[in-house]
Amino acid sequence: MPTLRQLFLANNAQTTNFPLLLEFERAEGIYMYNAEGRPYIDLISGIGVSSLGHSNPYVIDAIKQQVDKYMHLMVYGEYVQTPQVRFAEKLVSVLPDNLQSVYFTNSGAEAVEGALKLAKRFTRRQQVVACLNSYHGSTHGALSVMGNEEFKQAYRPLLPGVNFIRFDNPDDLLLITEETACVIIETIQGEAGIRVPDIAYMQALRARCTEMGTLLILDEIQAAFGRTGKLFAFEHFGIVPDILLLAKALGGGMPIGAFISSNEIMDVLKENPILGHITTFGGHPVCCAAGLAALEYLLDNELVSGVAEKETLFRELLVHPAIHQVRGKGLMMAVELENFDLNKKIIDRCIENGVITDWFLHCSNSMRLAPPLIITHDEIRKACDVIVEAIDFHSK
Ligand SMILES: Cc1ncc(COP(=O)(O)O)c(C=O)c1O
Repeated sequence: MPTLRQLFLANNAQTTNFPLLLEFERAEGIYMYNAEGRPYIDLISGIGVSSLGHSNPYVIDAIKQQVDKYMHLMVYGEYVQTPQVRFAEKLVSVLPDNLQSVYFTNSGAEAVEGALKLAKRFTRRQQVVACLNSYHGSTHGALSVMGNEEFKQAYRPLLPGVNFIRFDNPDDLLLITEETACVIIETIQGEAGIRVPDIAYMQALRARCTEMGTLLILDEIQAAFGRTGKLFAFEHFGIVPDILLLAKALGGGMPIGAFISSNEIMDVLKENPILGHITTFGGHPVCCAAGLAALEYLLDNELVSGVAEKETLFRELLVHPAIHQVRGKGLMMAVELENFDLNKKIIDRCIENGVITDWFLHCSNSMRLAPPLIITHDEIRKACDVIVEAIDFHSK
């Protein structure tokens, strides 16, 4: 009899020669449990998804209730489906006035695809500006706006007309012109190793886009829903995007994304051609029910208000001569070490000792910290003890 691990390697498509190969049987709160019942602290939330922790009972109940009523009924945008309507209504109620029209997708990358199309269609322009070191997903359009050549070169040709600017560098804003349909930018860069831009830069970016008639697309797929200490990361910068991208924590653990804009902008998808963006499963009723429950839980339990204090505690505890820097905002953090080799050894030891973390796609010398927002101060202390011990062990 082959083991589960052998079957995984044989029949499940592999995207790396070095998968982590951890096996979990169940997950609850900030913990994931293996077959022997050993708990592991999840310090990365399945990469920014499980912000409420795993198996939140309120979300599970909403899923069960919806499954009992109906699952898929029809492709997106034709039938009036209660979970989609109620979820969009709730999202719009917590967003600025111009973000009132929600298009639900299945994933983050699909939200990126929809937003790029929408910006081109609305402005009737063809050029796109994106940032170096950005990550927006792995489909062709999203890959085209990724700011890392290493991941793109094997998949060319990609979208033409994409120009790259340096993140947080005001000089490059002049590359946004009247030819530019949109700027797509992460409000806080994630896979670049958590880079928080200057408030002045983000305001200058907003002003330049407005001046040029260019749509500003903020990708908050990783940063939204309290992760940075505000419900949406753009609130730190006093700006509002023309199009907002959400996914990951949006579904409370279920797969869903969204691009959100004004009615005026979104309306261009209706005509010339009709059905400007189509998805079969986008806004799946069960995912919308889960997303609505997750957002209600987040707001009703005021989880966002505790994030800043938890960040401070992490920063107090993660002090060590081998740590070059702790970057980030809220519970979206990176711990910078000397190099990948050291980082990987420390990460492996943390996992051995029951704390799950990893590194970043474009920043291999830094360790990712993105725990569920429900993590307690005691649990932060426990996790940091393990991290500091691992750093000590490998940097002697
Ligand atoms: C900032 C950002 N944008 C887009 C994506 C793509 O989302 P998905 O993996 O759901 O396609 C990710 C995923 O990590 C991301 O971090």
